[in-house]
Amino acid sequence: MSTLSAKERIIYQIYPKSFKDSNGDGIGDLKGITAKLKYLKQLGINTIWLNPIYVSPQIDNGYDVADYYQIDEKLGTMADFDELVAKAHALGLDIILDFVMNHTSDQHPWFQAALKDKDSEFRNCYLWHQGKNGGPPNNWGSFFGGSVWQKDPLDSNNYYFHLFAKEMPDLNWAEPKVQVEMLKIAKFWLEHGVDGFRLDAFIHIAKADFEQDMLAKSAEPQIAEMFYANLPQVQVYLKEFIAQLHQIKPDIFILGEAASADIDLAVDYTTPKKESCDTVVTFRYFAEDKSQVESDLPQIGQPVKLDILGFRSNMLEWQKRLEGVSYPTLYWSNHDMPRILSRFAPKKESKACAKMLATLMYLQRGIACIYYGEELGMRSQTLGTVADFEDPQIVDFAKQAKQKGWRDGEILRKASQAHKMAARLPLPFDTTAYAGFSNVQPWKWSKEKNVASIAEQMSDPDSVLNFYRQILQLKQKPVFIEGRFILENTSSELYVYRRVIDEHKQVLVICNLSEHEKSYPCGAFTKVLLSQNAKVSAAQAKLAPYGSLILQK
Ligand code: NOJ
Repeated sequence: MSTLSAKERIIYQIYPKSFKDSNGDGIGDLKGITAKLKYLKQLGINTIWLNPIYVSPQIDNGYDVADYYQIDEKLGTMADFDELVAKAHALGLDIILDFVMNHTSDQHPWFQAALKDKDSEFRNCYLWHQGKNGGPPNNWGSFFGGSVWQKDPLDSNNYYFHLFAKEMPDLNWAEPKVQVEMLKIAKFWLEHGVDGFRLDAFIHIAKADFEQDMLAKSAEPQIAEMFYANLPQVQVYLKEFIAQLHQIKPDIFILGEAASADIDLAVDYTTPKKESCDTVVTFRYFAEDKSQVESDLPQIGQPVKLDILGFRSNMLEWQKRLEGVSYPTLYWSNHDMPRILSRFAPKKESKACAKMLATLMYLQRGIACIYYGEELGMRSQTLGTVADFEDPQIVDFAKQAKQKGWRDGEILRKASQAHKMAARLPLPFDTTAYAGFSNVQPWKWSKEKNVASIAEQMSDPDSVLNFYRQILQLKQKPVFIEGRFILENTSSELYVYRRVIDEHKQVLVICNLSEHEKSYPCGAFTKVLLSQNAKVSAAQAKLAPYGSLILQK
């Protein structure tokens, strides 16, 4: 039984296909993860979140689940999974699984039955609606482009609903069978020893009335979050579900993916404790600076910089409003967005930025969640072809950019800085041909030079990896777990905060977000806990570009 409380969790997110290949097929797998558990232990994390590992046609890299009770054969077997859990637990590492509850794959037996027979008992497990004026029921758009509606092969004026790919039909949570089955799946994995779940896309499990169009001038399908995200009924389903999970396993850890949740919803989704998520991941921290975006091209292929001013105020709001409520998730990157260094750091300053950003983010109040490779300072890497993105929206972007005169290289470079796929490349273990990830060409690969490998960074005291280890050691100290958070009122080039238990037990964290030298009066905080490109003299902290400093009195 896990003894970790939510506030002590330090999570490492593994994208299984890209972590470590053990059987020479170019695809990362469970045995690969098991082989590297000691590396993760030494890093200082205590919880591993695995992106989906279930049987899947891989239309959306595993988020299209065809069988929730089996491991995808490309990733291993159930015996491999049991071994991974046992060995992780022996090292004091918990395992949480991605739990895909909004949709299944179209290859799932329920959908196959529903598709072939209108009277199937599984028909009502999905969402169907009659078309309107010879077209789909409404103008709502899918997150993956086009309409949320796809024709029912049994009836040309009938449609099924899919918020993501058309091969990922949404489940109907109003149908009791769906709720019962989801609980059964969760119970199955809890019996296999998992310590919790990351609830995928749970904010979408309730939808509004399908008769209602989005108001729009254009005839194109419209993203319609007000009708399919964060509806009040989501909370009813969620609380019932989590309350039941707690009955099965009282100390289960739940991380909810709530991409568009604002702070009020985050409070709702994390209280009361027994029937809520322990923490939610919001995408709202990351305010975007779209000044470089060309308005006549689709945004999906264009890099968007982090807007520091917006980030500061969003982060502050989440820090303060969740005090006494729950712990925010602290993260910079995940598999759905470009890696943070590609959004923020000039290439030549990558190393300093990686260290400074780790200092800034993870010592705040909350649950650290590190995306694999981030501990090495990985950036998004440039993909070699448009097809590598596996996204029709990028094909469209490339076509339009080309018409505007962009060169192929520029299209690939820009799209790689903007798109999630370029953030999902293999982890480099050493300097051999495929970086020790595999001995054959990996499933996704870039010719662009990756960051220094784990082997190289292990033996370099100044490496990003060794810096992450020090940060995560500090993170385990009471002041960084319990301390109140106070953000100092500085210029936006600095991010300075205190973590405070009382007058005597407090720390000061100073980060320079700019390319200029900066100084900051640090008063009685003179004892250096950790520094990079920074020093203290005469009660002044002096920071080189992107330097950072952690001080105590
Ligand atoms: C959120 C996941 O993080 C993303 O990768 C996926 O495409 C959607 N949910 C659909 O499951």
